[in-house]
Amino acid sequence: MDWGKRNRLAQLIQLDGHCLFLPIDHGYFQGPVSKLEEPRKTIEPLLPYADAVFVTRGVLRSSIDPDKAKPIILRVSGGTSMVGKDLAHEGITTSMEEAIRLNAAAVGLSIFVGSHYEHDSLLNLARLVDEGERHGIPVMAVTAVGKELEKRGVRYLALCCRIAAELGASVVKTYWCEGFEKVVEGCPVPVVMAGGPKVDTNLEVFEFVYDGMQKGAVGVNLGRNIWQDEHPVAMIRAIRSIIHENATPHKAQELYDGIRNSKP
Ligand code: 5RP
Repeated sequence: MDWGKRNRLAQLIQLDGHCLFLPIDHGYFQGPVSKLEEPRKTIEPLLPYADAVFVTRGVLRSSIDPDKAKPIILRVSGGTSMVGKDLAHEGITTSMEEAIRLNAAAVGLSIFVGSHYEHDSLLNLARLVDEGERHGIPVMAVTAVGKELEKRGVRYLALCCRIAAELGASVVKTYWCEGFEKVVEGCPVPVVMAGGPKVDTNLEVFEFVYDGMQKGAVGVNLGRNIWQDEHPVAMIRAIRSIIHENATPHKAQELYDGIRNSKP
């Protein structure tokens, strides 16, 4: 692997082999989602605890100071919205030249396996990987399910992750599921887990993150269950303890409760 690409990957995946990516890209098709209406306010207290941020160029330029930033995974796919015809009909929205200008450590794009636009999204990925390789920029593929959250089963996710890796993604973002080890085993590149919509209890998040890490995930790309939490700093620090210190779900809960209660 060329020095530049290897160096960029090392900015993302830490020396212990693990990573905590903080995605704040949701507005690119969902608009001002709850708790991300003013991205700067939400992100600033969380940044110290993130290894990288997954973000569009618009929010990056408007809401993150370049002299205080973490490594950036630039969201470069889009072109659809929650109210449009089909969320799967994404294209590439941001050039590789722009990614280089923004000093991105990686670029990220969604694939929609099994959708009407499967073919287009997979070719978008392949094209992005070609361009990324030319410039030493890794690609994170996002196995997107659109509004069909029920798709998050092991057979489907294993299929998506393997296809993304075969097409050249350097990292694949997917969802945790029962039998998650099969997803990881079938995917020859690092896998990170998203959280999906906010769940009822923090412990549920800690449990799936812990389970996924035991089964071979390298980390998370986890957004709403952090920044939509009532205590987002406590949440990101608790998740960080699972990822980088191998804390159990109960230890993470204790840490969360301790931080939350120490607030004035
Ligand atoms: C949204 C994304 C997010 O980056 C991904 O879904 C992770 O965020 P969350 O944990 O909130 O699901 O691709 O477009």
